[in-house]
Amino acid sequence: MLQGKTIVLGVCGGIAAYKAAALCSKLAQAGADVRVIMTASATKFVAPLTFQTLSRHDVITDTFDEKDASVVSHIDLADRADLVVVAPATANMLAKMAHGIADDMLSTTLLATLAPVLVAPAMNVHMIDHPAVKENMAKLEERGVRFIEPGFGQLACGYVGKGRLAEPDELFAAIAAALREAEQPKPLAGKRVLVTAGGTVERIDPVRYMTNDSSGKMGIAVAEAARDAGAQVTLVYGKLAVPLPSGVDAVRAESALDMLDAVMARLPETDIVIKAAAVADYRAETIAPQKIKKNAETMTLQLVKNPDILQTVGERKGNRFIVGFAAETEQLEQHALDKLRRKHCDLIVANDVSQEGAGFRGDTNIVSVYDEAGLVEAMPLLGKKEAARRLVALIAPRAAERRA
Ligand code: CTP
Repeated sequence: MLQGKTIVLGVCGGIAAYKAAALCSKLAQAGADVRVIMTASATKFVAPLTFQTLSRHDVITDTFDEKDASVVSHIDLADRADLVVVAPATANMLAKMAHGIADDMLSTTLLATLAPVLVAPAMNVHMIDHPAVKENMAKLEERGVRFIEPGFGQLACGYVGKGRLAEPDELFAAIAAALREAEQPKPLAGKRVLVTAGGTVERIDPVRYMTNDSSGKMGIAVAEAARDAGAQVTLVYGKLAVPLPSGVDAVRAESALDMLDAVMARLPETDIVIKAAAVADYRAETIAPQKIKKNAETMTLQLVKNPDILQTVGERKGNRFIVGFAAETEQLEQHALDKLRRKHCDLIVANDVSQEGAGFRGDTNIVSVYDEAGLVEAMPLLGKKEAARRLVALIAPRAAERRA
């Protein structure tokens, strides 16, 4: 499994750096090409020569110490890595990773890599329990960074508790598992997927607008699941209550008309369209150029119908695979199948938004997926990420068949 794999091993400044030497040795013995990056503080605990001897490669400690003039070493390493492992990871490095700070070779490489990242923290028990550290770890986890939990035991600072770096054997097993997973076939590899997410914003005047309750969570989860399945993802998004995911091409669209333009402009280079956005059905007929004054006792806002983006895409779908969403409060199947046919979808994801745990703002959803022939899968109450993963698993084989 490790033979010929390039593993970038980032070592931070902590007493546990000595365990990283044992890990480096195991990885090299298993045939991996181990490239060690040490932070300046790590070199206070273990000499770079130790890692150099174990890995049989130069150890990089300085971003600007470019040994090979034909490459930029932090980009070269970031690109070549099959996996980046940070062990031990200090609270400082976790904070830098969470906030995108790139002020040394390791943090810069971590920002530049697209390879999976495994992090094994080691620190004092109070540090690992500090809200700042916990928040940083949660943020990183959200972005797909994997953690190898520290163990309990005697810490170098004298405390007994959680914070010890996992043992080299455990680190080694986690690395092998991560590489095995990275080698699994990606069901959407080579596919270009366009996902829409969030609610549209329809302006009334310079300070007022109409929108809806969509958080964008489901669409974002779908974009992430498609990305993780190997697709090249474009995310056209409106108003979101969650951060944008990494590794996707994100395009902002405010109104339904903006979203229509953004989607149609990208349709030619798209294989699969997944329309999770909550698009306003109507917009103000005219947008007042100045703030509307409250002169009269009543006011009437004239609304006009927005174009249906999904239907427009459906009518020009060609060989593309189209997935629509349907938010319903009654007669789920009937309305969903009606929308599927009207909008020329291949699959439609319906949810009864009146049900507890389904719908707009929460982290969970209860969806049923239909195709032309009827129900494909009725999913139970699931986290939106899991529901999105299962949806992508339904889309991938059907879309592959389509192209053939
Ligand atoms: N949709 C769209 N453009 C619109 C309205 C809806 O692309 N102007 C898409 C949504 O992104 C979703 C699907 O159509 O994928 C269904 O949206 P929904 O609001 O459930 O349906 P509507 O077409 O608005 O139908 P109705 O108002 O009758 O429920």
